[in-house]
Amino acid sequence: MEKLVIKGGHPLRGTLAISASKNAALSLMAAAVLPQGVTHLARIPKLRDITTFSHVLRITGAAVTRKDTGLQIDATRVGFPEAPYELVKKMRASFYMLGALLGRCGRARVSLPGGCAWGPRPVNLHLEGLAALGAQIDLEEGYVVAQTPRGGVSGGSYRLEPSSVGATINLLLAASLGRGGTRIENAAIEPDVVVFCEMLSAMGARLAGIGTRTIEIEGVQELKAINFSNCPDRIELGTFMIAAAIAGVPGQPVRLTHAHPDHLGEQFIAAFKETGAGCAIADNEVIVTPPESINPVSIETAIYPGFPTDLQAQWTVLLACANGKATVTDQVYGDRFNHIPELARLGLRANVVGNQVTVYGGSQLSGARVMSTDLRASVSLVLAGMIAQGTTHVGRIYHLDRGYEHLEKKLSQCGIDIRREQYDEFAAPQQN
Ligand code: EPU
Repeated sequence: MEKLVIKGGHPLRGTLAISASKNAALSLMAAAVLPQGVTHLARIPKLRDITTFSHVLRITGAAVTRKDTGLQIDATRVGFPEAPYELVKKMRASFYMLGALLGRCGRARVSLPGGCAWGPRPVNLHLEGLAALGAQIDLEEGYVVAQTPRGGVSGGSYRLEPSSVGATINLLLAASLGRGGTRIENAAIEPDVVVFCEMLSAMGARLAGIGTRTIEIEGVQELKAINFSNCPDRIELGTFMIAAAIAGVPGQPVRLTHAHPDHLGEQFIAAFKETGAGCAIADNEVIVTPPESINPVSIETAIYPGFPTDLQAQWTVLLACANGKATVTDQVYGDRFNHIPELARLGLRANVVGNQVTVYGGSQLSGARVMSTDLRASVSLVLAGMIAQGTTHVGRIYHLDRGYEHLEKKLSQCGIDIRREQYDEFAAPQQN
């Protein structure tokens, strides 16, 4: 297995380029299954989740080839409408194949994703929504077996409660090659969903209301394969903004380029500025000036444009550096706190009650061996290692490799002492 070894106390300086969005890329790859042709997706990050989803696509008959920084997806031969448990359990977004295969083939057999590292993540809205559009949905031996009437889903109206990124995408995938009109209420408006809708439109889908809470779609008989370019990763941008604020040199700006700062949502930016960090935003970059002292700013996650749940673990580390007490409340996932006991091994003073963690800032963290439990939890451990005294070993970084492209290379180019090492997790402890 691999781990990251970080010697704390080396400041972050200079310029970091933001990679392309992981989550948007996955939905764009699912859209590429719909047309009978060759889609070229530019700016697809080199990440484990992209590799996993490429395998999912290949099982259906698609040919997926890496081309420099993008992907070529030839969906001409898609004909085996299945997504197996072995892959779906590794990555929940594989569930997009349900909508994609229903749209493309009129039938699908897709494994239910099962549990998640931080508690329940149901798919009831995906299933009820597709049924409301006229798909027949059955559950057999852990799989969703779905079928549309001849010619695709008949269409209909469905209200998502709560609003869901994944369910919005799944419904749109099925409805775009359906027979009738579909109306999705309380649709997700996350930038990833907007970019996905823009790709569907460019492919010839008849969509109205992109970026609003009500999306209407008129099914068409076929879509065309196109060239499309992905957007930058907003969660990586937020992660690096936090990294710059806590690990930069006070008063010395850190530049984050190739970004779409407006994709972060106004609440994250507002909370970030409240900490006292300088934050100058231009079209494609953010310049963060680390403050002398960080104000304790409490946040509550919410769906877009609220504070992203995917940045709450990183915010907890920022609060560890603050000059007082503040809270992190997760309103999207009430149980996403696996990083807290690991951060406590580095000296974080915090306690969790229900969906809220109270962080007592101001104590110096010190290096230790810790373990990644999921993607965002693992990057929070890396951030903590950067500011801890001594050496931190972050184990099981396959979680991190799912969603942060070239992380240690990017950070070490900016002055952080971080390296990747092999280790044996089950080796007996060494005797003195
Ligand atoms: N929900 C339901 N029923 C459903 C679907 C969702 O109750 O059928 C609830 C969820 O439990 C949650 C809320 O709806 O409380 C929103 O979940 P959503 O469906 O929007 O999440 P998702 O599509 O499964 C995506 C991202 C996640 C990110 C969430 C929230 C992708 C591939 N995943 O998941 O990203 O946390 O939106 O913003 O886009 C990550 O990148 O680390 C990650 C987990």
